[in-house]
Amino acid sequence: MIEMKLFEVYNQIKTEPVRAKGVYLYDTKGRKYLDFFGGHAVISIGHSHPLLRKNLTKQLSKIAFYSNAVFNSLQVKFANKLGKLSGYDDYSLFLCNSGAEANENAMKLASFHNGKKKIIVFSGSFHGRTSLALAATDNPIIRSEINKTENIIFTELNDKEKLNSIFAKEEISAVMIEGIQGVAGIKSADEDFWNFLKKITKENNSILIVDEIQSGYGRTGKFFSHSYFDVRPDIITIAKGMGNGFPMGAVLISPDINPKIEMLGSTFGGGHLACVSGITVLDVIKKEKLMKNAYEAGNYISKKIKDFELIKEIRGKGLMIGIEFHSDTQNIRNILLNKYKIFTGISWDKKTLRILPPLNVKKSDLKLFINSLDKTLKSCTHSDSR
Ligand SMILES: Cc1ncc(COP(=O)(O)O)c(C=O)c1O
Repeated sequence: MIEMKLFEVYNQIKTEPVRAKGVYLYDTKGRKYLDFFGGHAVISIGHSHPLLRKNLTKQLSKIAFYSNAVFNSLQVKFANKLGKLSGYDDYSLFLCNSGAEANENAMKLASFHNGKKKIIVFSGSFHGRTSLALAATDNPIIRSEINKTENIIFTELNDKEKLNSIFAKEEISAVMIEGIQGVAGIKSADEDFWNFLKKITKENNSILIVDEIQSGYGRTGKFFSHSYFDVRPDIITIAKGMGNGFPMGAVLISPDINPKIEMLGSTFGGGHLACVSGITVLDVIKKEKLMKNAYEAGNYISKKIKDFELIKEIRGKGLMIGIEFHSDTQNIRNILLNKYKIFTGISWDKKTLRILPPLNVKKSDLKLFINSLDKTLKSCTHSDSR
């Protein structure tokens, strides 16, 4: 008998988590793992949060889903809470299902708004795997012929001169930038560049889109990572942490942009279960002070590991941390996983480990990670992995 095979999406970790609670995963044999990857930065309030379980179960017994053909007061409730917690209550909200979908709609909206079609993005960017989002992603290996377009222009982070020269030559609809580049290995634009982006987009009737899909939702200690600077983007995209695993994405739209009805749409976006997940996540982030926790936990890790051998640089903010080593991280990551039972993330930069735990990590979890990393690096030094 022929059995349907799965498409190989990733080079997978062989462990299969079948149960999860808080910051911990349990495999088929009941072995416990510390989750410092959070399923690609998706788990914001911790696995199997009791309130999320309770609220989703309750909603499931009422109505699980209806499309945007009908009014759904849960969407209004979610938007209100999001506006308050993020500080963007004057913006409007388009609800969809993933990060790539949010970015597609953000770029489309910018083009609808100013009638222009070129988008500037940055080396190292990851904006998703659908059509235009993939064209805007700096990885030729995953970009097919049909995804290539002259409408996307790549430039370098922090290079004001190059950006200036592109604006001088082209009609630019939008500049799209990650709050902090995640997949590239936790890399950021500096304050001066953020100020420049704000100025140049404004002067040229272009839209500033900030992709906060990985860096947003409290992960860096503020609701949005760009809030560390004096910038208010025209469009902000979010996804990952929004539903703590329930698929959600969204676009926050400045009041200066006037989208018309039916310009954007989605069948599943803003369904009842999604909204309940979103509302619960926001309530928990606020009630359990998870942004403060993310900020303090990130500082604690960075401070404790800064003098560890083999570490070259620590980047990022809060619980979006990139640890760059002097050599490939594969061995370090394998030891952390197999010997110390800790999940961590890789990045395009082979020397950088990505640390993206749920925002409710406790001091004891941090200590476990730090001690395990210390022992791992000492064992690597002894076996001369440098
Ligand atoms: C910054 C950023 N933008 C967009 C995406 C795409 O999100 P999704 O996989 O939900 O389509 C990702 C996913 O890793 C991301 O990190």
